[in-house]
Amino acid sequence: MSIFDLVDIDSHLAAALGTELDDVSQIFERQLASEFSAVNTLSVHVARYRGKMLRPILVLLSGLAVHRNSDTSLLTEAHRVIAAVTEMIHMATLVHDDVLDESRIRRGGATVNALHGNDMAVMLGDYLISNAFHLCSTLGMPSVNRRLGEITNTLCEGEIVQLHHREDLDVGEDLYFSIVTNKTASLIGACCEIGAGVSGGDPDVCESLRCYGRDLGIAFQITDDLLDLMGSQEELGKSVGRDLDMGKLTLPLIRALDQSDESDRRAIAALVKDRCHAQLRERLLADGWFDSAQQTAIDLVASARRCIGDLPDTPAATTLHRLADGVIDRRF
Ligand code: FPP
Ligand code: MG
Repeated sequence: MSIFDLVDIDSHLAAALGTELDDVSQIFERQLASEFSAVNTLSVHVARYRGKMLRPILVLLSGLAVHRNSDTSLLTEAHRVIAAVTEMIHMATLVHDDVLDESRIRRGGATVNALHGNDMAVMLGDYLISNAFHLCSTLGMPSVNRRLGEITNTLCEGEIVQLHHREDLDVGEDLYFSIVTNKTASLIGACCEIGAGVSGGDPDVCESLRCYGRDLGIAFQITDDLLDLMGSQEELGKSVGRDLDMGKLTLPLIRALDQSDESDRRAIAALVKDRCHAQLRERLLADGWFDSAQQTAIDLVASARRCIGDLPDTPAATTLHRLADGVIDRRF
């Protein structure tokens, strides 16, 4: 299912973007094709990992949104290649993330680590990240390579800081937002910024789109964390409860620990230590911490939409607004 089945979008633009995304997929697959069947077997698995192509869509939509109309002939091969590169980077992070989280299920099927072991999953992630930068280098746009290199550094920093603070009950909100901004939102922001930049957008417009993507990305990760806490594997098609199992604190729990009195804090800490998923879930819901985190995600979506309030009123801009709303309902 495509994002465009889930978000209300101008039908002409949806059809044209569908064609663009088919081209992006071809670039992606051509890049990963190897003379070795052992490599291709793993790459085929990645095709199933690919979801709604949110990052490529944001590159393309941002590339259009700087113009006064949304005619997709304004998009260039560079937009499509960068869209494929961002998806490849994202896939690399997911394959490695499933190793770190010891996750067995993603997108309704076995993870690479579950199927082929951690060693193969680590190598597949490396193959993806290496191919992403090889593909990007074919553009002859060093500034795009440099920017995406900065972003992958940031993704790793976010993940390393998160790992460092496993089991740390003193993780505060500031640290949580820093981790989430780095490990998730930085790439989403860069997709918007680079897509607009390649279209010749003014620096302030590119910056507005980066901020839109950043706020949307933080809201996306908060919602993802809430689903990990409250959702089911059947519903989501991926392993759930991994944050608690791996000792990673997320927003509702951080607020509960931070804002409760000493005896409540001790009781919550014991539930965390003993991995009492159901009791913790009930408590966070009953005490309003789930709603509080959800409200923060709603506020961030509103902030994301404000960032792009000055864009020309076009179908591409309207779609960016609707995508932001879709993050909250988590229709994708
Ligand atoms: C998902 O978090 C993980 C990320 C968004 C970032 C993962 C980043 C890395 C592993 C480091 C960078 C790696 C490379 C190759 C540059 P999650 O576990 O909350 O999401 P999930 O619920 O989808 O598993
Ligand atoms: Mg994970």
